[in-house]
Amino acid sequence: MANVTQTPLNPGDSPLVREALSSVVSRETSATQTAAQPGETSSDGNGSWPRPAKTRVIAVANQKGGVGKTTTSVNIAAALSMHGQRVLVVDLDPQGNASTALATEHRGDVPDVYQVLVDDLPMADIVKQVPDMPNLYCAPATIDLAGAEIELVSLVAREARLRRALAAYDAVDLDYIVIDCPPSLGLLTVNALVAAEEVMIPIQCEYYALEGLGQLLRNVDLIKAHLNPALRLSTIVLTMYDGRTRLASQVADEVRAHFGETVLSTVIPRSVRLSEAPSYGQSVMTYDPGSSGAMAYMDAAREIAHRATVA
Ligand SMILES: Nc1ncnc2c1ncn2[C@@H]1O[C@H](COP(=O)(O)OP(=O)(O)OP(=O)(O)O)[C@@H](O)[C@H]1O
Ligand SMILES: [Mg+2]
Repeated sequence: MANVTQTPLNPGDSPLVREALSSVVSRETSATQTAAQPGETSSDGNGSWPRPAKTRVIAVANQKGGVGKTTTSVNIAAALSMHGQRVLVVDLDPQGNASTALATEHRGDVPDVYQVLVDDLPMADIVKQVPDMPNLYCAPATIDLAGAEIELVSLVAREARLRRALAAYDAVDLDYIVIDCPPSLGLLTVNALVAAEEVMIPIQCEYYALEGLGQLLRNVDLIKAHLNPALRLSTIVLTMYDGRTRLASQVADEVRAHFGETVLSTVIPRSVRLSEAPSYGQSVMTYDPGSSGAMAYMDAAREIAHRATVA
């Protein structure tokens, strides 16, 4: 059962927050109070981080829109790639925001993830190396992908199309595959969760942050039970943290109290540089490496790289 009854809930908690939290399986919480403060970053040099024994496939999911899925996917991927990891970002959102941020063409007739999922095009035919980022690759999404939610319904193995495509793709000896999910729980996100072993959930440090989380976690459990036993919630990352507001720290505390060590110590602050970088076709890692957002994502990526990869 969930540990929700042992944890003080704030008087302002909405019923949805309670509902979301009540579906959370009890986790160890003792280590969570040692979390680093926002802005407490460490310098890093350009050394290599340990490469995982096998490719880690991470689905970045939250059906709530605008919580930082794409910003997190792109910047964690860029940070990992700058430390000797070979990383593929799969853009699974018809909006194509990750493709834009990685300066990967995704308009017109460009072959994209839609053709991989629906037409069985090999992944190798769509993956592009990200300009000026030697270890970073992108599988772009065009607006065509919007049709995939419907078209996948009638296809064989409709939930496992991405998994199959990735299994057949070994072109560049990848260490990480980061899948940027759309803001829905439809078949595209299901494909990501079936292809992945890890789910990373960005949570925005705002009111209603936990709304809908229960449903996402139930879907993860269902997919684990029926389609992908290896799947686990490995990482929660707190995004858009505004240290000046009490609300942000309350949300952060609440999330830590319930998810324990799953939550990264590093918190991503609000940083205008993070929102500017995509319009220059760059991650913030190259756009403004000294900014608070870049340093935070670098620290978050380091935590991920050094975490145990097996449950
Ligand atoms: N830490 C941050 N500080 C400031 N702005 C941010 C931060 N993280 C994300 N943003 C901005 O907030 C908006 C939403 O972020 P993002 O696109 O990463 O969310 P998303 O969850 O991928 O959205 P969607 O659900 O539409 O795919 C973007 O304009 C982005 O630039
Ligand atoms: Mg997005």
